[in-house]
Amino acid sequence: MIRFLILLTFLFSSCIKNQINTRVNIIPKPVKLNLKNGIYDLSKETKFIFDSIFTNEVEYLKSIFPFKIGNKENIIQFIKNQDLQVEEYRINILKTKITIEASSEKGAMHAIQSFRQLLPNKFYKNNASLQCLEIHDYPKFKWRGLLLDCCRHFMEKDFVKKYIDLLAFHKMNILHWHLTEDQGWRIEIDKYPLLTEIGAWRKGLDGKPYGGYYSKEDIKEIVEYARKRNIEVIPEIELPGHSVAAIASYPQFSCTGEKIEVETDWGVFKDIYCAGNDSVFTFLENILDEVIDLFPSKYIHIGGDEAPKFRWKNCNKCQKRIVENNLKDENELQSYFINRIGKYLEKNNKQLIGWDEIMEGGIPKNAIVQSWRGMAGGKLAAENSHYAIMSPTSHCYFDYDLQSIDLEKVYSFDPIPIDLEKNKHNFILGGECNMWSERAPQEKVDSKVFPRILAMSEVLWGKKENNYEDFLTRVENHYPKLEKLGVEYGYEKTPIKFKSNFSDNKFEIEIVKGNKKMEIHYQVDNGAWQEYSKPIEIFKSAKIIAEERNSKRKDIAQKNLEINFHKGLGKKVEYNTNYSTNYPGTGTSSLVNGISGNDSNFRDGQWQGFYGKNVDITVDLKEKINFNELKTSFFQYHLSWIIVPKSVEYLISDDGINFKSIHKIKTDVNPMKEGKFKEPFTHVQNYSARYVRVIAENYGFLPKEHPAAGSKSWLFIDEFSIK
Ligand code: ACM
Ligand code: ZN
Repeated sequence: MIRFLILLTFLFSSCIKNQINTRVNIIPKPVKLNLKNGIYDLSKETKFIFDSIFTNEVEYLKSIFPFKIGNKENIIQFIKNQDLQVEEYRINILKTKITIEASSEKGAMHAIQSFRQLLPNKFYKNNASLQCLEIHDYPKFKWRGLLLDCCRHFMEKDFVKKYIDLLAFHKMNILHWHLTEDQGWRIEIDKYPLLTEIGAWRKGLDGKPYGGYYSKEDIKEIVEYARKRNIEVIPEIELPGHSVAAIASYPQFSCTGEKIEVETDWGVFKDIYCAGNDSVFTFLENILDEVIDLFPSKYIHIGGDEAPKFRWKNCNKCQKRIVENNLKDENELQSYFINRIGKYLEKNNKQLIGWDEIMEGGIPKNAIVQSWRGMAGGKLAAENSHYAIMSPTSHCYFDYDLQSIDLEKVYSFDPIPIDLEKNKHNFILGGECNMWSERAPQEKVDSKVFPRILAMSEVLWGKKENNYEDFLTRVENHYPKLEKLGVEYGYEKTPIKFKSNFSDNKFEIEIVKGNKKMEIHYQVDNGAWQEYSKPIEIFKSAKIIAEERNSKRKDIAQKNLEINFHKGLGKKVEYNTNYSTNYPGTGTSSLVNGISGNDSNFRDGQWQGFYGKNVDITVDLKEKINFNELKTSFFQYHLSWIIVPKSVEYLISDDGINFKSIHKIKTDVNPMKEGKFKEPFTHVQNYSARYVRVIAENYGFLPKEHPAAGSKSWLFIDEFSIK
């Protein structure tokens, strides 16, 4: 009787029907899904019938199956179907029987993950039911990965396992495990115990040792855990660069042989493995032997990115190697290095993967290229019939904030380079999202990866349509499932954005919400908090604080805006030098928009960046006016190559052609000064003019003490205030 009533309720209540439809909410969206009439009652005892190749998958499903397993009534049957591709599967949910068809364990595991996602968010003993349906599903790309950087911040073994589960849940199949870095060596190597005794630990912010590593037992456990979920673990052992932790442990393998510390800052560092010393190759080959024993994957990632050539240029051994091997320069020496390691891997039946820098000086034979500096590297590799994995910084860097890469942007990603010829498309294996952890200790990783990885899973599984709104609805329906899995997901878009408009001597500040449903409250200059409903009018310099209320997120969004009234507001700015399109601020009005840049975040959308050149701009005040204060501020963060200018000069003119210098300051900020800070340059004196110009002199090439010595530097400015 109860069942009959439930059935009636499902048939006649549209409300409950909707509830069922939102339950049929699988990410990534299956290729084909047809709803059918009827329900399968989960609360009944379920019997499993299966082909023996699916034993592991059935055990896995049983371990997460929320209801009673026995010998009666309902059936879940796993059928081997040789006609299906390796990752393809079919699910058919009938009233008393579910069939899962696959040709391999991989397909069966995908079916199980779809099944898991179909389970109702809340189980009640009497209405735990599944809508009858059929699914036929398969991926577009065979490489669907996540890079987890466990070096910049160490991540616990159980956390890595949680991510393996989450990858499987979303039908991703690769964990790219970044295990060695400047700031920490994380894999136990028996032959070289100092790699973990010394290299796994750096001086933490509190002065105490910070770090950790995975023992061989930990790694075996993780690899096995992943295998059971059909996730392939690819280790990354970085060379020749990003190797400070290894060199701190064994200084004899650098060019100088000098003792250095495990790195505590973020960036690119000049101490790398010496390419002229054969014992370096023996060292690396011995390490790789142990890595090969631990990881069954056919692939080993050897990094290859961001290796400054400064040490090699100044090393006799490296220079000798260049001469003896008829190499043109240090780029070809890098190629020699990678090729030598590639050959060693090949001898051991492994294939090398490297970041796109490995192509500088020629693409190593049989190498797979991971394209990160845009799409060009992957395209070049594919054109040369090399396989490529796409993870451009534009769409796939989940360490970036939402301002640069939001959910919609990830959803718009296409791993196939636009102008790659069709007959080369098969060389694009797929893509990865990269979770670099400089700014993401373990507890922040969830909010960076989620929900963006949902978009990535859908891109790589293969979207049949570009319907972001539909996707977003499914993401929102998916959140309760993530909550059950303990995922502290972040926002879809920058949650709070200020949009300012200056006219008639007042600012109108609009607060743009990342999601229409959000509730934002704000405060002006320590006044009363109010709920935001319409643009805020501001008549004098002020500070606004806005924050989200009623969020389910752990890190609730809060944002400040500092408004600075001055005489240049909204005036025309002529650029005598151009800003970088990567850091445009708010465009040509950015430096007279009255909005200051953040003291510690040069990516806040207010800072304008100039690469390798001066800032030289003129503000046309429309008529000759009086003013008595000129002020500019510049950002410094030497590890991002952003240096305060060498000098700042203010000039005035009445015709916009002939300028008179009124003040020039030679700055004396140390280019190596630690940390992120904002440096103001103010000149106070009475003037009268129509045109006001500032020339800030770019620092030039980074000094020899800098990790990227010799590279051009950045100059960042936020506002030209005229009072
Ligand atoms: C990279 O982001 N350096 C691969
Ligand atoms: Zn050397």
